[in-house]
Formats: sequence, structure tokens, C-alpha cells
Amino acid sequence: MIAADVADELVAAARRARQQAYAPYSNFTVGAAVLCADGRIFGGCNVKNASFGATVCAERVALFGAVAAGCRQIEAIAIAGPGDEPLPPCGICRQVMAELAPGADVIMAGEERRRATTVADLMPEAFGPGELRGRT
Ligand code: THU
Repeated sequence: MIAADVADELVAAARRARQQAYAPYSNFTVGAAVLCADGRIFGGCNVKNASFGATVCAERVALFGAVAAGCRQIEAIAIAGPGDEPLPPCGICRQVMAELAPGADVIMAGEERRRATTVADLMPEAFGPGELRGRT
């Protein structure tokens, strides 16, 4: 697990990113922050759409931003959601984490409490690139 001060910094970045959330229909605002091996931190927020299925979660916005900037080694992901309790990532975000950040720590932060886990624990037996090999 990443050091406590680094985790604090990542949660602070996720909370800052949350302030940019675009959620005019639900007001359910979420922020995320991704820590790359080179020390860079990328924030993301949820971006909703009037066509609800087009919505993208904060975690994927942050992960895709990191990858688009060239990051291929992700150490940790923080998620900052509404309410006191930690917000767990949705299934689609877990799938994306399993591909792009399989070894990452995950810190889920509510406004009062937080919980630390790993992508491996959140997404056991994930479908991944290995399943594609040799099957077509
Ligand atoms: N959401 C996230 O951004 N991350 C999560 O881990 C759970 C859900 C967003 C998606 C959507 O904008 C809203 O929260 C729930 O409707």
C-alpha cells in the first residue's frame, strides 16, 4: 500500500477533481485521481449526459487521461464521492482498472471515512488481455 502521506495527497486531488463534476441531473458528484509511477497525478470527475447511458464515471476519466498522457504504470487510484462512507467503483470501472492498473492500490474516500483496497481484490478473476490470446 502506498505511504499514508501519498494517499492523503491523492485523496485531496480526487476531492479537487470532484469539484469539476458535471452532474446536473442527479447532483451525484464523484472525483478520482490516478498516481503514475513517475509521480504524476491525473484527476477526473464524472461527466453525465442527458442521454444517461453516455455518462462516464470519474475513475475512467482519470484513468484515460493518464493513459492519454503516456502513463503505462499506475500505482494508485483515489475515489472521492458524496456521503460519509467510502464510494466503491462500479463494475465497468473495475474492468478498466483491471486492464490499465492491475497492480494498483485503491483508496475509496467518503467525506468522513475511507477504506483502502486493491484492484486485485475489487476485480478477482478479471477478463483481461490474456483471455484474448490464442482463442481466435
Ligand atoms: N459514478 C462515478 O463517477 N464513479 C463511481 O464509482 C460510481 C458512480 C458516477 C456515475 C454517474 O455519474 C453517477 O456517479 C451515478 O449516477
